[in-house]
Formats: sequence, C-alpha cells, structure tokens
Amino acid sequence: MKATAKANANIALVKYWGKKNKELNIPQNDSISVTLDKLNTTTTVEFHSRYKEDIFILNEKVQGKYKTKKISRHLNIIRQEAKIKEKAKVQSINNFPSSSGLASSSSAFAALSIAAAKAAGLNLDSRKLSTIARKGSGSACRSIYGGFVEWKTEENNDNGSFSKQILSPECWQQFRVIVVIVSNKEKTISSRSGMAQTVATSPMYESWLKTIDNDLLLMKHAIQEKNFSLVGKIAEANCLKMHSTMLTTSPPIIYWLPQTIKIIRSILEWREENLEPYFTIDAGPQVKILCLEKDVTELKKRLNQLQIAQKIIVCKQGKEALIIR
Ligand code: PMV
Repeated sequence: MKATAKANANIALVKYWGKKNKELNIPQNDSISVTLDKLNTTTTVEFHSRYKEDIFILNEKVQGKYKTKKISRHLNIIRQEAKIKEKAKVQSINNFPSSSGLASSSSAFAALSIAAAKAAGLNLDSRKLSTIARKGSGSACRSIYGGFVEWKTEENNDNGSFSKQILSPECWQQFRVIVVIVSNKEKTISSRSGMAQTVATSPMYESWLKTIDNDLLLMKHAIQEKNFSLVGKIAEANCLKMHSTMLTTSPPIIYWLPQTIKIIRSILEWREENLEPYFTIDAGPQVKILCLEKDVTELKKRLNQLQIAQKIIVCKQGKEALIIR
C-alpha cells in the first residue's frame, strides 16, 4: 500500500481569492492557471498498520502537529473513499521554497491526492482527483492537469467544483514563465486566512468579483488563440485587482516586498523597449514574469543586473500530475 506521485505547481492567470463554501473549499469565482514544469512536489504515501499515527515528513524534516493535522484531514478523505483505516507515512519533497507565495500547496495537495489514492488501491479519474485535491488547497485542483487549466464551479456541492484542461503544453511551445524568487521566508498570513479576512472586510471585494467573468472569458479566448499580448495584459490587470482587495483588507495584507515593486517597475519600463514581459504575483513577494521564448535571454540578463533575485527559474508549461512509482 505504497505509491509515489509527482505534481507541478501552477500559477493563476485569472485568480481566485475568497470562498463561497469554506468547508468544501468552493471558491467565490472560477479561475484559470498555467502549470509550471520546474516547480514540483514528489510525495510518497504508505498506508500500514504499523503506523499508530499519520507521520508527515517534508523536505526530510518530520513536521509538527499543525502541518500533520492538515495532511491527516486530507488522508481521511481517501481512507473514507477506500474504506480503509490504516495510518500513513507521507514523505514530500518540494524542489522550491514552501509557503512563500510560490503555490507549493498546489503541487503538494495534487501529489498527495494522487499518491494516497493509488496507495489506498483506488482507481480514480482526473475529475475525481481534482475534486479531492481541491479540498486540501483550492489551487491544487488545477495542478492535476498540465498546460493551461480552468477551475470551474458548475454546482455549489462537493462534486460540482473541479478543473479541466484548456490547452495542452504541446500547443503553445513558446510560452514561458520566469519565476523570480526574492525571499525564501515563509509568509506571515496564509492564503486561507488572508482570503477570509479580505471577503469579510475589503470594500473592494464586490467590485473585484464583478470583473472576473469578463476576465475569464477574455483569458480563455486569448489562450485558445495563443494571443500572448492579451494573455499578459489580462493576467497583469487581474493580479493588480486581486492585490488591491488585499491592500484594502482590514488589517491590510501586503505580501509585496521592496524587491517585488522594483521588479514590477522594471517590467513596465522594459515593455517600452522592444520586450514584452508581464507580471503576476500570488500571496507572497515572488514575481512570475510571463513572456515568450524569444525574450528570455534578455530578460534574465536584466533581472541579474537588478541584483535582487535570490533565484531565477525559467519554466515552460508543466505536464499533468503522475504516479511515478
Ligand atoms: O490554493 P489556495 O487555496 O492556497 O489559494 C491560492 C490563492 C492564489 O494563489 C492567490 C490565487 C490562485 O487562484 O491560485
């Protein structure tokens, strides 16, 4: 009863921030993302009667009660589906910093769902795996798939909210995301509590929701047409709208660091000069730059000249999450 899965993280181009149903992790709005090939989590799950409690080991360190409890809650969903009682040992490796705004929870819960389901002897399709992954972390339901992905809520019930692929990685090979890591520190406010505070207190929240349907419609069309300028423009504007709901939360949620702003400003300047980068940022200080392959070398050179990046990772579109052992 042991299996290993590997899943890639994803970055949202039209984002979700806020839940309609906290228990089932059903979002206020649909979202669209791209899966990234260089940021991934590899997770091994073993169910066995010799384990008295669930054990969670992340990046070779045994985790304490708080993080293990989250994993146990997720394993309970699988145990219930498979009608088993065994506790599990879960070993996960992230090849990038955890909990710092790089969507580590998206790859983490996608890999955990797939590995645990397989280890428990379940044979689930991608839609069901996406539905299960959603309950660990919303964005994880998108990491079940590769390429460009949409997360839709068709019905406000457990089985009605899951992801689907919009475009496979092979269809748009020039698309790149440059991930610029400016800090390895764990964020102080989790997405889960941050978004709940925003929904409860930001006067901008209702206006943000009103603009989403249009962003989704345009983004999906732009991806299908491979219209890079339109994808970049909508993603950047959508990111700024989400951050404006965070900034106007009480107390304010400011995930950006001075280095984040420096990169934003540089990207705006570089767009005046024959380059076409756009930025997007999640719940953390790291900047993800959307661009085409032709601009990667020059953008990397300029980013290095800024001397603020701890690490620069050039990603192509990632493939779907898979069982590897
Ligand atoms: O996956 P969660 O529930 O931790 O929330 C992720 C929220 C954002 O990354 C900010 C936006 C998104 O759609 O991924």
